Amino acid sequence: MAVVISLGGSMINGTGSVDRAFLREFREIVLKSKEKMGIVTGGGKVAREYASAAREFCGNNYVADEVAIAATKLNAALAASLLRGAAHPGVFHDFTKAAAALGKHDVVVMGGTIPGITTDTDAVLLAEAIGAERLVNLSNVDGIYDSDPKKNPSAKMFSRMSHAQLAKMAQESDQRMPGTNFVFDSVACKLAARCGMELHFVGGKNLKELGNAIKGKRHSGTVVSTE
Ligand code: UTP
Repeated sequence: MAVVISLGGSMINGTGSVDRAFLREFREIVLKSKEKMGIVTGGGKVAREYASAAREFCGNNYVADEVAIAATKLNAALAASLLRGAAHPGVFHDFTKAAAALGKHDVVVMGGTIPGITTDTDAVLLAEAIGAERLVNLSNVDGIYDSDPKKNPSAKMFSRMSHAQLAKMAQESDQRMPGTNFVFDSVACKLAARCGMELHFVGGKNLKELGNAIKGKRHSGTVVSTE
């Protein structure tokens, strides 16, 4: 069995420095799971800040995306260092090559790939390429809510929902700009629906939840499946 983890950049470096304690705990859970694993890292604040500066400098979103992708790859290189020994030592830029490397290694790590998408989409593509059973999204958002919990204190979290429901919510807030999209990119939602990939959204604060999500066991976040 194989699992992909989409690891939000906010979990790696949410405050301007690398969260070493979190990453060490994350490594323990990944290694303990004994699953073949693809890990795709987001760019977080660094990607947003650098992309925003690049956009101001040259007014070109393609170039800004390339700058942001570099930030996702920086985080991927860090994740590869964290998992050295279990993971292929390099960062993959190609899904087919990453999938092939899982034959020899337990873990492969990727960042972003091409402008215009986000690492959510990369994670779904990697999951499909390696024939993963599920994809776990680990971020500072603990699940999918019916409205933005930061703005609406009575927002309710879904414990289960369908791909169609998720895709509709993502589509409504998709602006194709860094940091402005819904919890999961709308293209990623559609690709997950297309291949019926089970999605698990869990908050990164409680890493026990990650262990459960990797195994497809109950957890406190949201499970998205084809209903
Ligand atoms: P993230 O996946 O971290 O994007 O990639 P995000 O969803 O905007 O960030 P969070 O989850 O809110 O923190 C960062 C940025 O890198 C570029 C996009 O500009 C994206 O917004 N990117 C990433 C690409 O252009 N292509 C990729 O394959 C990946």
